[in-house]
Amino acid sequence: MDDVDSIFADDVELIKNADVLEEDYTPEEILCRDEVLKQYTSVFKPIYKGRPPQNAFLYGDTGVGKTAATKYLRENLERDIKRKNEQLPENERISLNVVWINCENFTTGDHKTSSYQVAVGIANRLRDKGNRITGTGYAPQDVYDIMYEELDKLEGTVLVILDEVDKIGRDDTLLYELPRSRDIGYVENVRVGVIGISNDYTFRKNLSPKVKDSLCETEIKFPAYDAEELSKILKARAKLALYDDAYSQETISLCSALAYQEASGSARRAIRLLRRSAEIAEENGSEQIQEGHIRQADKDLEYGNIVESIVDQDDEKLYILKALAHLDKASLTPARTRTIHAAYARVVRAYSTVGGKDPLTQRGMFNHLSKLVMFGFVNTIDHNKGVGGGQWNEHEFSDDVDPQKVKDAFEDRNLEWLNIDVRDLGE
Ligand SMILES: Nc1ncnc2c1ncn2[C@@H]1O[C@H](COP(=O)(O)OP(=O)(O)O)[C@@H](O)[C@H]1O
Ligand SMILES: [Mg+2]
Repeated sequence: MDDVDSIFADDVELIKNADVLEEDYTPEEILCRDEVLKQYTSVFKPIYKGRPPQNAFLYGDTGVGKTAATKYLRENLERDIKRKNEQLPENERISLNVVWINCENFTTGDHKTSSYQVAVGIANRLRDKGNRITGTGYAPQDVYDIMYEELDKLEGTVLVILDEVDKIGRDDTLLYELPRSRDIGYVENVRVGVIGISNDYTFRKNLSPKVKDSLCETEIKFPAYDAEELSKILKARAKLALYDDAYSQETISLCSALAYQEASGSARRAIRLLRRSAEIAEENGSEQIQEGHIRQADKDLEYGNIVESIVDQDDEKLYILKALAHLDKASLTPARTRTIHAAYARVVRAYSTVGGKDPLTQRGMFNHLSKLVMFGFVNTIDHNKGVGGGQWNEHEFSDDVDPQKVKDAFEDRNLEWLNIDVRDLGE
């Protein structure tokens, strides 16, 4: 297939257009979402008609089409307004500016985003490169002032789309003020509409009543896909991405069924699974994706997901997991709490030359350890020797976690993997 010999070339190629399988690809058509799209379209209608924009809050699990539907409607809206404007006299034309912010990109060192960080992000999006403000060093009110000033320099409608808005955590000032900025008097020239998109339903429940009143003017729920809907979505994608002979209906059905079972109806998972399966088939020189390739791809993705969820833990929990990794390597698990604490303290001290923190007390550490049990990273083994025999707990990694995954997670966090000797901690 390739005329040049290269170690990078595979003997067979199954993927015709890899872009179509990328995260940021926007499908031409949003399938199986008629009801939701109808509701969502009506949020954008006022803008098309030149009326004040609405605010909306979208929620649903990850991979159910929230971002895709939003991009799709945004593109349609911009295109249709452009067409409409061509027919209108200059003074009646509709002016629309869209500011798209993914709140996840504004996380700070401890993996938190705040209203402040997002305001910095919005301001910088509207400023020229040479004139950007930094994410630290401004008083919050100054940052908000700068942001509103930049917004007010625009004209017409400004639609601010805050994707992954649940990353903004507890400080929801911006979510309250931005939708009302004109009423409050922060801006005069523009009308601001805000769309918040959340993967996390509890975030919605915990929003302050003020935000519920303003941002959640319209709420749109994106339900999970069932296996059949996933099949339809995946089939359309496969047709564009893969050569016809590279897959069969069974390929589509199995990928969809697995994504349905294991990732609560996530189209993202189904697409990733198809892509990884195709890559594995290519690596194996197979002309068509086989069941074995899909099973292997599924395992690979699970592995990646667990590493990712370890990466999301706070430092204390990472240190505890690292302590357990060393104990595991030294065959000292399951281990009692005091042994884990001793290993954990060594880990913290080893890293404290960098960060400068003291280890928590055993009780303090235990709280974090209990969370790790709750999240399914760690198992507890209860020992109960009956009356007078004493009662104690031991802990070890659950089946999902192993030392290599913890190590990979450290690497993803750009933390050096220091070697900690714990062998002397064995009783
Ligand atoms: N109804 C749909 N039709 C076509 N593709 C879809 C649909 N829903 C989701 N997808 C695709 O699935 C992937 C995940 O969707 P996305 O919108 O990013 O999910 P969310 O934002 O809800 O996490 C994307 O590649 C997207 O294009
Ligand atoms: Mg999304």
